[in-house]
Amino acid sequence: MDVAEAQCAILGLLGQVSAEALPKVIHWMKHSSDIEELTTSNNDVILQSIAEDLRSFLPLEAMVSTENQAIQAIENLEQPTLHVDAFLYDDDTIDSLCKEGKMSRDYCLSCGSRKTAPLEFLSHSFSPVELKYLFQHALPDLAGKTLVDVGSRLGAVLYAGYVYSSASRLCGVEMNAEFCDLQQKIIQKYQFADRIQVYHSDVCSQKSLLQDADVVVLNNVFEYFLNKKEQIKAWTFLNENIRKKGSLVVTVPSLKESLEKLQMNIKLDQWVEEIELDSDVYLGEDTDQQALSDIHLYAIR
Ligand SMILES: C[S@@+](CC[C@H](N)C(=O)[O-])C[C@H]1O[C@@H](n2cnc3c(N)ncnc32)[C@H](O)[C@@H]1O
Repeated sequence: MDVAEAQCAILGLLGQVSAEALPKVIHWMKHSSDIEELTTSNNDVILQSIAEDLRSFLPLEAMVSTENQAIQAIENLEQPTLHVDAFLYDDDTIDSLCKEGKMSRDYCLSCGSRKTAPLEFLSHSFSPVELKYLFQHALPDLAGKTLVDVGSRLGAVLYAGYVYSSASRLCGVEMNAEFCDLQQKIIQKYQFADRIQVYHSDVCSQKSLLQDADVVVLNNVFEYFLNKKEQIKAWTFLNENIRKKGSLVVTVPSLKESLEKLQMNIKLDQWVEEIELDSDVYLGEDTDQQALSDIHLYAIR
């Protein structure tokens, strides 16, 4: 049913309600959580459908051969680690894949034996629950605002911003061409082009986009993808160009943690003020409190 048909059906139904009951029914429609749940779950279903489409375009590990550096970085980690994209695979899907023998939560300590240890899972995307938390709990109303996702990868932040927020512009900057093509496919299929734009570019060439943004999202953006020198250059560029007073910056991990690892001398307290977030919210059975508390929000001073 399209919008016009739905409006027509609702008006037809309301026309049958008695004059006495009509104000109560309209009040219920405006304020009842039944209606809110209906809307929320529709948006959830759109994101699930996008994840399904993306899974069909990507290998199981959701990484592409052109991101050698990131693949190497994971292989070099001390603890054996598997990239499992949290936007594409929820716990139930991982369980099913493990049962089918296509994925494993463990690795063998000595080949042939039953001695196993749990693998570390690492995700290069926010999960659907984290995205819902970000747009429905952490960020204020984004009506009329521009959000920039630095390193938009599969586009998860952009699609969630489209369905969960009223942001007027959602811009993704992604240096990997394959991921840009993938995002364009989804934007076209779901008709998101009126509010979402993706730029195939190094963020360091996007001065005015950063300067004009009301919200900038930085989810684990550089650590696995750039060498140390490139990371320092990128953070210096962000520090120089995200300067609009009152604009917001979302990061995982905290700015302090990212910059300390690089021993950078950016005076954080002169740049941003952290806004305390309450991550103690239940957003369904996949809610991971630890993951939510890793999300940090800052306002530019
Ligand atoms: C961890 S993913 C973030 C995914 C997405 N923002 C999310 O939250 O779901 C980081 C992405 O940033 C991209 N990236 C890293 N450095 C970049 C740069 N200097 N300019 C543009 N994109 C960059 C990588 O290619 C990668 O796809």
